[in-house]
Amino acid sequence: MIMAMAGSAVGLGNIWRFPYMVGEHGGAAFIIIYIICCLLVSLPVFFAEATIGKATRKDTFGAMEAIAPDGRFKNVGYIAIVSSFIILSFYSVVGGWSFDYLLRSCAGGFSGKSITEAREVFAGMGSSVLENVGCMLVFLGLTAGIVAGGVEKGIGLFSKISMPVLLVMMIVIASVSLTLPGSKEGVAYLVRPDFSKLNGAAIAAALGQSFFSLSLGVGTILTYSSYMHEDEGIIAAGSWTAFFDTCFALIAGFAIMPAVFAAGIEPSAGPSLVFETLPVIFSRMGVVLPVVFFLAILIAALSSSISLLEVVVAWLVEQKHTTRPRAALLVFVFAAVLGTACALVPKVFNTCDFISSNVLMMAGALIFSMIVGWIMPRETVLQHIRSRFIYGLIRYAAPVMIVAIAVTNLL
Ligand code: PFF
Repeated sequence: MIMAMAGSAVGLGNIWRFPYMVGEHGGAAFIIIYIICCLLVSLPVFFAEATIGKATRKDTFGAMEAIAPDGRFKNVGYIAIVSSFIILSFYSVVGGWSFDYLLRSCAGGFSGKSITEAREVFAGMGSSVLENVGCMLVFLGLTAGIVAGGVEKGIGLFSKISMPVLLVMMIVIASVSLTLPGSKEGVAYLVRPDFSKLNGAAIAAALGQSFFSLSLGVGTILTYSSYMHEDEGIIAAGSWTAFFDTCFALIAGFAIMPAVFAAGIEPSAGPSLVFETLPVIFSRMGVVLPVVFFLAILIAALSSSISLLEVVVAWLVEQKHTTRPRAALLVFVFAAVLGTACALVPKVFNTCDFISSNVLMMAGALIFSMIVGWIMPRETVLQHIRSRFIYGLIRYAAPVMIVAIAVTNLL
């Protein structure tokens, strides 16, 4: 399950948000803060969520009932299931764009294009209902297909194969990118430490990004942990996932920013970076590089979306006694409806993104750490995490920091 957890963590967030965030918030100074946030807050939340999953061996809803049979935390289970469903819906839209751009790159669709032309292509795709919704459905279909294949033979196998491949692809792109004339500025953008940029907003950004990147607070880690083998340890799983996720984000940064600077373009984040700037820059280096890049994005997005769909499928299978393929199909149909709304109405997309990342994930992370720190028997928790220091972080540091960040964000 460790590979599957790493797969859930490595996703679009590593590619389109992390590199820009690093550059904008002080380079190496931000990386240090990001790592501190991971170690002191995000990893303890990961351990907490995983402890709930491994100790109860149930889906998110069942786990909450097992911890409080009087039904006190029933709604927490529902909130997590709804959160992962919402993220899945808008994430599938972007996954669909990656699929679309993979096809376009295979057909050499970006060679000779300027950024302005690429912008027009992106806008054109956004306004074509058939293309936009069709690609989203293909992506969602692939996600549901893998999950329907089962925990070991679907999710486990896909993660075992895709993670090493993904890493190699990113290393190849980074090696090409780093040898371009003018790429040094991009490296400096990422690593030059600027401690003057480290303010409350930078810390909030680091923590928010590490939560999103480690897939915390919506039940994915909980659900995957419920499938862990007895000899797979929670501390090892969390540490490897965070290590792999951070390394991947840094490699993505070295694949992207040097190329952006070598082309003399202003760095940015989000869709404009991935779907407007990079296809043009990479296609200047031949037809293969854009294909590798969009295939990498598609794989990264899929390895995350399967973890989101699994949260809902696990609930349907365990609580509603549906068969796995039928559950996957059912989630596919409902996510297709919300996904279509996200694909066609930017406001719906942005609202889903905002609510899930800023409200639901934070609330989920807070509640999971409070449940493990204050509700579950201390001996049970220590059996899994075996460290009083980490227990202290889960009990005090994580909740305090989450509330502080939520307040900072609201202000
Ligand atoms: N960790 C994924 C990324 O960095 O893109 C996004 C994600 C996946 C968030 C799964 C939440 C989740 F449950």
